[in-house]
Amino acid sequence: MSAILPPSERLWWKHPLDRVEGTWIAIALAWCLTMFFMMVGWHIYGKQNLSTETYKTTPEKFSAKAQAMVDKYTVRTETADKIPVVAPPAGSDVYIVARLWNFWPILELEKDKTYRLHLTAMDYNHGFSLQPANINIQVVPGYEHVVTVTPNQSGTYSVVCNEYCGIGHHTMVGRVYVK
Ligand code: CUA
Repeated sequence: MSAILPPSERLWWKHPLDRVEGTWIAIALAWCLTMFFMMVGWHIYGKQNLSTETYKTTPEKFSAKAQAMVDKYTVRTETADKIPVVAPPAGSDVYIVARLWNFWPILELEKDKTYRLHLTAMDYNHGFSLQPANINIQVVPGYEHVVTVTPNQSGTYSVVCNEYCGIGHHTMVGRVYVK
């Protein structure tokens, strides 16, 4: 019998399981289970997958909160688009809006202080990729993603959109400062 021809005996599934076949099924099953429990283990021990909280929101509700923070704590503006740089108090709730095609505003955080970082998308799916920390979160419209972050290294972090979101996708970048 060859793999490209139909089996000579039609009821092939009634044949006893070959030892090699059984071994491969056992190996595949063991590997499936290993991979499955790796997901759980990696979350706990890998310190890479973030525990995000997710809530429903609307663009209006979210931008009101982001705007309130920007109105209160803006220290300067940067880039040709005059993106506000916001230095909110240590330990507060901070907001970043993702939309075609920027992240708004720029945050200036303090090292070793814990913040609640809220993210949403105003229009389409975007990605929040924080480099070089290698944090990666999908930002979905209609949902508020909350991450508890404690920046432990000062410097300038780049935010890159990593979900293809149209013609300006490659220009969709942002910034986070840690002092
Ligand atoms: Cu936003 Cu790609």
